[in-house]
Amino acid sequence: MKSMWIGGIAFIIALMAGTYFVAGDAFISDDYINTLTMVGAFAIISITVLVALKYVQQIRSDKAGGELAEEAWDGLREYKNPIPFGWGISFILVAVWAVWYMLFGYPTNQFSQIGQWNEETKEFNQKFESKWTDIGSEDLRNMGESIFLVQCAPCHGLDGGGIGGKSHDLTTRISKASVIDAIKNGANNFKSAYPAGMPAGMLTDDASINEVAQWIADGLKNKAPDSYAACAGCHGDSGEGVEFVAPSIKTYTDSLIGAVLKDGKKANIGVMPNFEGRLNEMQIKALASYIRSMGGN
Ligand code: HEC
Ligand code: HEC
Repeated sequence: MKSMWIGGIAFIIALMAGTYFVAGDAFISDDYINTLTMVGAFAIISITVLVALKYVQQIRSDKAGGELAEEAWDGLREYKNPIPFGWGISFILVAVWAVWYMLFGYPTNQFSQIGQWNEETKEFNQKFESKWTDIGSEDLRNMGESIFLVQCAPCHGLDGGGIGGKSHDLTTRISKASVIDAIKNGANNFKSAYPAGMPAGMLTDDASINEVAQWIADGLKNKAPDSYAACAGCHGDSGEGVEFVAPSIKTYTDSLIGAVLKDGKKANIGVMPNFEGRLNEMQIKALASYIRSMGGN
């Protein structure tokens, strides 16, 4: 009998040591709830083992006796025993603790560390997103400049000037030679934005071609020459372009830059590779904004 109690107490100590090993730092935490929980855990360990021992001992030594209940189940009958004292006390204590826990310990829907973390993360993400959706024009240009210096400057030059004619001069919208090339040979590089392309030979006599090309290369100032009528249906009365029909020949619009980066361009100057999938929408907008700031309207 004695050995059973010694074993039980050793078991309690082992369980407490295990608990301390796993969650011992809760004892020294600033949160009194944690300390209380640890004390509760130790109490539950002790009470459980001691109560179990008590009943095991009782089962061994008890003799049946007392008043029999009326009911019989296939001949089996029960004694009218009162609720065990320890069980009754535990039941009441647990009920009191449950009420305390719900109302004061960790009230439902109130503070939790996980909840706080989620809320703070959400708030931070919203702040981050709004910072970059409402990005100021200066930040956008700076972003564009950084991308340009890495991705585009090797061909277009640090100043965007095209490295002496090796690529498109981005400080103006388009050169006379490029306009003449588009008129003579047509153009169908930006298939995703303007699927029909531009047919060759919209103008055929050299004087008209020269006149229109000069006017466009000079920035479409003053009155358009009459021969521009052959172009206005697609490019708009003042060269601003028409969505899905033709790009702007006046400014580097976001949609033109988007189309150049998506499809690349191969014309009289050379080959511009496409950047499909390598730049996101914000980066394309940033590049467009930076290119416009270089002077090409
Ligand atoms: C049928 C419609 C249409 C007409 C008419 C037309 N264009 Fe175009 N133009 C386009 C399209 C579409 C593109 C884009 C081509 C591409 O995908 O590369 C384009 C491209 C150009 C470009 C090159 C723009 C760039 O950045 O690569 C120039 C310059 C141009 N057109 C000038 C003219 C001129 C000048 C005329 C009149 C003589 C003219 N276009 C008539 C549809 C037209
Ligand atoms: C490998 C060299 C090369 C790289 C890299 C390059 N480009 Fe180009 N780009 C060219 C060439 C060449 C042309 C002229 C094509 C033509 O008109 O013959 C051009 C043309 C252009 C045009 C004029 C398109 C038009 O129709 O008006 C724009 C805008 C442009 N590039 C923007 C960029 C941007 C932005 C980057 C960086 C993300 C970039 N390029 C990277 C070679 C390059």
